[in-house]
Amino acid sequence: SETLSLNLTLNGEPLTLQVAPNAVLLDVLREQLGLGGTKKGCDHGQCGACTVQVDGQAMNSCLRLAVMCEGQHVTTVEGLARDGELHPVQQSFLECDAFQCGYCTPGQMMSASALLEDDRIGTDDASVKEAMSGNICRCGAYKNILEAIQQARV
Ligand code: FES
Repeated sequence: SETLSLNLTLNGEPLTLQVAPNAVLLDVLREQLGLGGTKKGCDHGQCGACTVQVDGQAMNSCLRLAVMCEGQHVTTVEGLARDGELHPVQQSFLECDAFQCGYCTPGQMMSASALLEDDRIGTDDASVKEAMSGNICRCGAYKNILEAIQQARV
């Protein structure tokens, strides 16, 4: 079937690939590129397990057509650590035990790292909770997740 050429920067590396016109970014990442860190939960924008960053903004990759990422910078959880060092959010999630089963954790961390870069979001707990409300944790580890995000800030 017909494919389109897509040029993007993925985790800092320029990449050209052929994608189906109707392929969503989540499936391209997982199935075409073998990047399994981005999780599929609901597959319709409700859970946040599939969160990646597109030009620094947290986004549900299950809702985004891959072809819409032409020329954009996409970062997945695989690209969060840099130069052999964990991102502060990864470090604090570890230290705060901010997960149980871990399925939502990549998405949580991609949202958290984007929000820590966003000066428009307040630093109080209520603002962080609101900003993270698209990321569902079925184990209910919210208290530790919030603690981890606040710890990563400092
Ligand atoms: Fe995308 Fe649930 S898998 S929001």
